[in-house]
Amino acid sequence: MLPNVLEVARRLIIERVSAGETVIDATMGNGNDTLFLARLVGESGHVIAYDIQPEAMAKTKARLEREGVLDRVEMRLASHVEMGQLDLEAGAIMFNLGYLPGGNKEITTQAATTIQAIEAGLERLRPGGIMTIVVYWGHPAGQIEKEAVEKYCTELDQTSFLVLKYQYVNQQNQAPFLLAIERRK
Ligand SMILES: C[S@@+](CC[C@H](N)C(=O)[O-])C[C@H]1O[C@@H](n2cnc3c(N)ncnc32)[C@H](O)[C@@H]1O
Repeated sequence: MLPNVLEVARRLIIERVSAGETVIDATMGNGNDTLFLARLVGESGHVIAYDIQPEAMAKTKARLEREGVLDRVEMRLASHVEMGQLDLEAGAIMFNLGYLPGGNKEITTQAATTIQAIEAGLERLRPGGIMTIVVYWGHPAGQIEKEAVEKYCTELDQTSFLVLKYQYVNQQNQAPFLLAIERRK
């Protein structure tokens, strides 16, 4: 079967990130992507992970502890906008937009702050590095966010960034899609 958006995001990252690198999970949630990144960069690597909800952070922490990879993850109970304060180069940055699955559906990523964080993240992406953004837009804030994120990505300078969109176009109900941005130089 063709891979889903999350699988494609991971494949693109696996092809580009090496053990020992620094990577960022911009939306920790239940920790699936944080765990994936922590395993990928290995013991000598470093993952910085953001979420604004204590519930997400607690779930992710417990998961990473169980899997024995907590040592390489720096969890921040803060907005991903704070990426703008980081002084580093990242090999990959993952965004998984929307609300916490199983959590409060009113607390979701929002267009304005998502764009700010994407911008800050792209400034910290190393050449050859990749940002993946999975867009869920079946909820009201998601519709607005989708428009803003697509517009921002479409307008990125093609000499600096390659932007890919991956989506099943014959699915009912606002199929989620992936935007992947590779830094060229
Ligand atoms: C779809 S979930 C992420 C799922 C996660 N990647 C996983 O693997 O389980 C989106 C998450 O973004 C978080 N979020 C919302 N606004 C945020 C912000 N400004 N900064 C960081 N995280 C935010 C939500 O609390 C929620 O947990």
